[in-house]
Amino acid sequence: MSVQVQTARGNLVVEPSESGFGARVTGVDLSRPLDGETPAAVKAAFARHGVISFPDQPLNLDALEAFTLQIGAFGEDPFIKPMEGRPNVLELRREPDEKATNFGAGWHADWSFQAQPPAATILRAEVVPPLGGDTLFADCAAAYEALSETMKAVLAPLRAVHSAARPYGTKGVFARETEKRTMQIITSPEAEKTQVHPLVRTHPVTGRKALFVSPVYTVGIEGMTEKEAGAILGFLFAHMTQPQFVYRHKWVKGTLLMWDNRCTIHFAEGGYDGHLRVMHRTTVAGETPV
Ligand code: SIN
Repeated sequence: MSVQVQTARGNLVVEPSESGFGARVTGVDLSRPLDGETPAAVKAAFARHGVISFPDQPLNLDALEAFTLQIGAFGEDPFIKPMEGRPNVLELRREPDEKATNFGAGWHADWSFQAQPPAATILRAEVVPPLGGDTLFADCAAAYEALSETMKAVLAPLRAVHSAARPYGTKGVFARETEKRTMQIITSPEAEKTQVHPLVRTHPVTGRKALFVSPVYTVGIEGMTEKEAGAILGFLFAHMTQPQFVYRHKWVKGTLLMWDNRCTIHFAEGGYDGHLRVMHRTTVAGETPV
C-alpha cells in the first residue's frame, strides 16, 4: 500500500513493490536540501523497503554528493579509480565496444570485506542502454526469516570470512582480464586480506536479522573446512537468490536508487553489448556488523 507524507514542498509518495521489498519514492526534489519531514520519511522508506528508487532526479555531481551527505558520511571505495576531482564518486561506465563482463556481475553486498562496510550505496543512471542493464536485489532479511528455526540455530554462532581477493586480488578476475575495460580497476595484494563478520547480522535501525554473505566476497566460515563452509554457503546463496526474494530494478535515465548493503545483495545484469551505460555511484559509511 502506498504511503503519503505531507511535506513543506508537497506530497512525498512511497509506492512499495508487490512484495514490499523495493519501493518508488516520488514528490521529492533531491537536488535541494531535504527539509521538514522529508529526511525522516526517506530514511523510514529506506529502512522498510531496503531498496528505494527516485525517478526523474536531474542531479549534477555536486548535488549527488550533497544528497549522499544528507544520508550519511561518505564510505571508502577501494580498488576503483574515482572520478577526476571527485574522490567519493565512481563512474560505472561501459562503452558500446566493451566485451569484458559488466561491472558488478556477481551477487554481493558492497565492500563487505571492510571492517565497517558501507550502510548504503547510491546509484544514479546517467545513460541507460535501450535493453538489458537491470540491477537485481535479493532481500537477505526475508531470506533469513524463511529458514527453519533449526537452520537459524545452526547459523547463529557462525562467523563468515570476507575478502576482495576473487575480484580484486593479484590473481583475481580483474587481474586476469584481457578484454578492454573503461573503468580503472586497481588490483592489489591488499585485496587478499580477510575480514570476519557475523554470518547473520542485525539491522541497526529495524532490528531485523539478515544473512550477511555473498558469492563474490564470502570466502569461508571461521573454523570450518573449505568443503564444510562451501556446503553451507552454497545452500545459502541458492536460497537467498530465489525469485521470491528478488526485486528487479529496470533503469530509466535520471533515476536515483539507494540500497541497504546491510540486508540486501545485488547483481548487475548485462545484456546490453553494443550500447553505452553510465552510472554515478557513491557509498554511505556503515557500522561494524553485529
Ligand atoms: C554495482 O554497484 O555493483 C553495480 C550496479 C549496477 O551497475 O547496476
